[in-house]
Amino acid sequence: MGESAMAQAQTRTRAAEAAQSWEGHDISDLLSKSAAVMPAISATEAGTPGRSISFMTTEHEKPINLGGGIPDPDTLPVSGLQAAFDSVLATNPTEALRYGGVFGFDDLRKVLADRQGRIQGITLEMDNFLLTHGSAGGIDTICDTFLNPDDIVIAEQPNFAGSLRTIRGHLCEIIEAELGDDGDFAARVDAAANKVEASGKRVKLLYTVPDYHNPTGATMTLATREALIEVCAKHHILIMEDMAYTEIFFDEPPPPSLYAVADGHGVIQIGTFSKIIATGLRVGWIQAKIPVIESVARVRYDMGGSPLLHRAIAKYVGSGEVETHLDGMRDLYRQKCETLVASLQEYCEPYLRFEVPDGGFFIWAECIGASAQDVAREAAIEGVTFAAGSNFFAKREESDTSHIRMALSFATIDELAQVGPRLRDAFHRIVD
Ligand SMILES: Cc1ncc(COP(=O)(O)O)c(C=O)c1O
Repeated sequence: MGESAMAQAQTRTRAAEAAQSWEGHDISDLLSKSAAVMPAISATEAGTPGRSISFMTTEHEKPINLGGGIPDPDTLPVSGLQAAFDSVLATNPTEALRYGGVFGFDDLRKVLADRQGRIQGITLEMDNFLLTHGSAGGIDTICDTFLNPDDIVIAEQPNFAGSLRTIRGHLCEIIEAELGDDGDFAARVDAAANKVEASGKRVKLLYTVPDYHNPTGATMTLATREALIEVCAKHHILIMEDMAYTEIFFDEPPPPSLYAVADGHGVIQIGTFSKIIATGLRVGWIQAKIPVIESVARVRYDMGGSPLLHRAIAKYVGSGEVETHLDGMRDLYRQKCETLVASLQEYCEPYLRFEVPDGGFFIWAECIGASAQDVAREAAIEGVTFAAGSNFFAKREESDTSHIRMALSFATIDELAQVGPRLRDAFHRIVD
C-alpha cells in the first residue's frame, strides 16, 4: 500500500471509529417537537399486515378483518392497471421515469378537472389540481401551507384518526365539534369558533368528511353543508373537505360537495384514488382555487409524485375503465353492507345500535351493556377484528368507550354473514 493509500485508510478508520459514538446514543434530544410527541404509527397503518397497534389482532384460524378501510382485494383492477403501466413504459419511458414537477402530470390533472367537474357539476381546470401522495399527503401538505404550531383547527368528532394525527403532528390545537345530530352541526361549529374568538384567538381550518364519513358512515345533508359554509365564511375559517368515500355510494350520489356549493371559495378539497382503485397507488389530489394551489406548490419540497404512476392512472381513468370498475364496486359494497347489516340485525339486535350507511366502507355501532374495548377483545377471540371507536377521538378512551367501527369493504360476503353469530358469542361472554 502506498503512503497516500495508507493515509486514506487511516482517515477512513478514524471516521468509522468516530461514527461508532452514535452506537446506543439516545436520539430523543435531537427529535423535532412533532416527532417527540407523536405516537409510533398511525391507525391507518394498522391496515398493513403485521402492523397493528390500536386495532385488535387474532389467532383465530378463520379471521375476519373488519379493521382498515381497504378495497376488496379480489377486485383490484390488476389487468387494467398492468395494461396502463405497460403502455406508458412502451410509449413514454423517458418522461415516465424522470422527475415530473410539484403539480404532477398535466394530463392526469386534466382528467381530474373533467371528471370532478362532471361529478360535482362545476367547471374546473387543470390548474385547480395538484397531485399528492394519497389524500393523506394532500392533507399534510395543506397543513404545511396554512398551519403554524398552536393554530386552532376544528374537526368533526369522531373523525378519521390519520387526519387527527396529521393535524396534531403540526402541533396545532384540535377542537372537536360533535357530529351528533346533523341539523345542529353548523351551530356547534359556530359556537366553538365564537368561544375561541372570545379568548382573543381564531380558528383557521375546519376538517370535514361530508360523505360516508370515517368512522360514522354518515352523510351530511345539503342544509348542513350550506349552513357550514355560512358559518365558516363568517369566521373566515378555511374548510378542508375530504372526499375519500364520495364515489362509493350504494344507490344515489351524495348531496353537492361543499366546494360546489361555495363555488370553491374558502374550500379546499382533497380526493384520492385509494378507495376507488387501490390504496397502494398512493396518488391523490388537492382541488382548490388557483391561488391556493400555487401556495401549496410553494411549500412542497418532495420533488413531486411519480410521473410513472400519474401517467398510468391518467390512462386507466381517462379511458373510462375506472367507471366500469366503480359500478362493480358500488354493487359489491352495497351487497356487503346488506349482508353485514342483516347478520348484525339477526344475531346482535339487543347488543348493537347503528344506522345503515348509504355508501362508503363503515358501520359505526354503539355497544349496549358492554364497553367497546371488551367487545373488541372478545370479538378478536372469535376471529373478528375491528377498531374500537376511541381511536377516532382526539382524547381516545376519555371521550368514547361505547362505539366500534366495522369496515365492510375488505372481508368477503361469506365472512360478513359470519360476523353476527361470532359477535353474538362475544357479547354472550361479556353480558350474560
Ligand atoms: C377520511 C379519510 N381520508 C383520508 C384517508 C387517507 O387515504 P389515502 O391517503 O390513502 O388517500 C383515509 C384512509 O382511510 C380516510 O378514511
